[in-house]
Amino acid sequence: MRKLIIAIDGPVGSGKSTVARRVAELLGYTHLDSGAMYRAVAWKALRAGVPLDSPVDLERLAGAVRIDLQPRGSKLHVLLDGEDITDQIRTTDVSRAASVVAAVAGVRRPLVEEQRRAGAQGGVVMEGRDIGTVVFPHADLKIYLDASPEVRAARRLKELEEKGEDSNLAKVLADVRERDRRDREREASPLVRAGDAVVVDNTAMDAEETARVIVLLAQERAKAASV
Ligand code: DC
Repeated sequence: MRKLIIAIDGPVGSGKSTVARRVAELLGYTHLDSGAMYRAVAWKALRAGVPLDSPVDLERLAGAVRIDLQPRGSKLHVLLDGEDITDQIRTTDVSRAASVVAAVAGVRRPLVEEQRRAGAQGGVVMEGRDIGTVVFPHADLKIYLDASPEVRAARRLKELEEKGEDSNLAKVLADVRERDRRDREREASPLVRAGDAVVVDNTAMDAEETARVIVLLAQERAKAASV
């Protein structure tokens, strides 16, 4: 059967990463997390002291770094200029900085190019905010994953607690709403549902159920594409 390009977009905490990883595993595809690339640029900006309110400096930085996404076992490793920063990019500070950095059109350009290159052959599940709208507008299957803000915040809090970060639901919910606002209202490639995306609301579904629904849709599309 033909190897598809599957785009999964959605807001923070919608379960994109867990679901995309599992869908890729079930189909034998490669999982690509485009958000990790924006996080990598943000991490580098914080470390190098590049001001987050300077689009010109951020654009220069994004054009100068090399970001590699390397699947190893079930984990996707993120390398920036050869340095493994997989775990460092998951902190609250980097999350906040990433949503600022991702609003800069000049930062997005080289990263989108790289994402297109990485997915061009098909057999990929790429997750992000603009995969079905900008990166792969002709993706074989587009999913818009969503869940209520409260459930998304609870998931995010659990993740933070597992990493030993101190937080609470009200704080995380405020942060989720702020990142939603930035991702949806920015001018450059805002988070919007592609007209031809299938909306999957997983407020009341776990990641495994969500992944299996998407796999069924993918199998249907692959079959239709092969006849
Ligand atoms: O999915 P994530 O939380 O790891 O993404 C980090 C940030 O990058 C988030 O603020 C949204 C942004 N992003 C984006 O603008 N476009 C993408 N394709 C992926 C992520």
